[in-house]
Amino acid sequence: MKQIKKITCIGAGYVGGPTMSVIAQKNPNVEVTVVDLNHARIAAWNDEDLDNLPVYEPGLDAVVGEARGRNLFFSTEVDRAIDEADMIFISVNTPTKTYGKGKGQAADLKFIELCARQIAAVAKNDKIVVEKSTLPVRTAEALKNILENTGNGVNFHILSNPEFLAEGTAVTDLHNPDRVLIGGEDAEAIEALVNVYAAWVPRERILTTNLWSSELSKLVANAFLAQRVSSINAISELCEVTGANVDEVARAIGQDSRIGGKFLKASVGFGGSCFQKDILNLVYIARTYNLHEVADYWEQVIIMNDHQKTRFAEKIIQTMYNTVNGKHIAFLGWAFKKDTNDTRESAAIYVADHLLDEEAQVVVYDPKVSAEQIYRDLDYLGTRSPEDNRRLVKVVDNAYEALDGAHAAAILTEWDEFKGYDWAKVKEGMKKPSFVFDGRKLLDRKELNRLGFAYYAIGE
Ligand code: UDX
Ligand code: ADP
Repeated sequence: MKQIKKITCIGAGYVGGPTMSVIAQKNPNVEVTVVDLNHARIAAWNDEDLDNLPVYEPGLDAVVGEARGRNLFFSTEVDRAIDEADMIFISVNTPTKTYGKGKGQAADLKFIELCARQIAAVAKNDKIVVEKSTLPVRTAEALKNILENTGNGVNFHILSNPEFLAEGTAVTDLHNPDRVLIGGEDAEAIEALVNVYAAWVPRERILTTNLWSSELSKLVANAFLAQRVSSINAISELCEVTGANVDEVARAIGQDSRIGGKFLKASVGFGGSCFQKDILNLVYIARTYNLHEVADYWEQVIIMNDHQKTRFAEKIIQTMYNTVNGKHIAFLGWAFKKDTNDTRESAAIYVADHLLDEEAQVVVYDPKVSAEQIYRDLDYLGTRSPEDNRRLVKVVDNAYEALDGAHAAAILTEWDEFKGYDWAKVKEGMKKPSFVFDGRKLLDRKELNRLGFAYYAIGE
């Protein structure tokens, strides 16, 4: 059985960086090199000051601090790292296509293909190639084709090893996964990867399947999770008109062990780089095989999510006497969930966009997201000019500053620190009536009402 000595990971992003850091931490005898084309990103991974890592994850600094320089390296020398590795993880981004066939739905595989071609061109001995990025089903086939037809006659074994970590809890998820999934055809290659994980994951939690089951399971896991959020969000709207409380309903149904209590938190809508993309992928695949009922069924999860974001923005406008023109609305939070600086597909972007259409003045505070990122997210939508985005949106690095003089506060991310604010003091600085729109059901309604806020929360 092959003992892996050198691992290379192409892509030093939210998935590749933390995953490889933990693999290196737990396998001190394996040399792990993470490469990326993005020089600034690699420089940040190599920064002496562990506060400057490009990905913010609780506990990641300690893991990187332990392994970096020992058997964990970050580099821009892609070719050399490919040449030296026994096992290569592909962990590059696979965004939804923004052009051509499958636009807005299919995954854009151009980065994956580039990686495959580069591996084929450089490899001089046999390699195990591991798909880490989320991919449409049967990508492994394409990968295999490229590798075999453009390579130097060496053998490639393809494995699928989807990552299930959630952002904000990446390090604990990696240290203690519910399961590790490895799909493949070659028993020896599978065993080699099993051994890497077995350094810290109990064997019974390492599942092996065929390639296609592994690829599909990743999409299905995310689709099921997202479906739960859309399901409870659908009920949140019903709660608002019937006088039921969505948290009480969630608790009542979650006690049924067949349903379970997790992932039933109503919110302004799910975000993140995976849920929407993976469902769109699932929908696209189903349509490709003419399974229209299957496609429509899953598409509804996204339709519901879009509706929830729009509904929240509309609620703000309606409640504020049908106009937010020139009104100062403080946004607490921009990240798609707490404990991450990731903003991809964050509900905050779409809620802001809706309010900016109505010429609101939005002032954003997020403990981890930079002003550059916030403007980039808004500019990327292409809804209005970059000048208009900068005219209408201000980003500050202090919540009290964001709230001072505001007509309303909107909570978009469930950062813990928002709960600890001196809301009595906030109230003094705000315009009257002082509105709070809680998209995360984070604050205490009784307390806010006692302080005199007009408080609106999803699903109540
Ligand atoms: C998800 C999957 O959980 C993970 O297994 C996969 O590898 C990648 O995609 P992630 O996107 O990091 O992880 O975050 P997750 O915690 O799943 O939350 C996704 C979105 O759903 C967030 O915007 C979150 O706020 C929202 N959410 C989650 C809710 O609105 N309510 C819930 O009850 C749970
Ligand atoms: P994810 O959330 O899937 O980790 P990210 O966008 O955070 O996605 O990270 C993907 C990384 O992959 C980016 O830093 C990008 O620069 C890198 N990347 C994409 N294509 C290549 C390539 N051909 N070679 C090296 N790095 C690449």
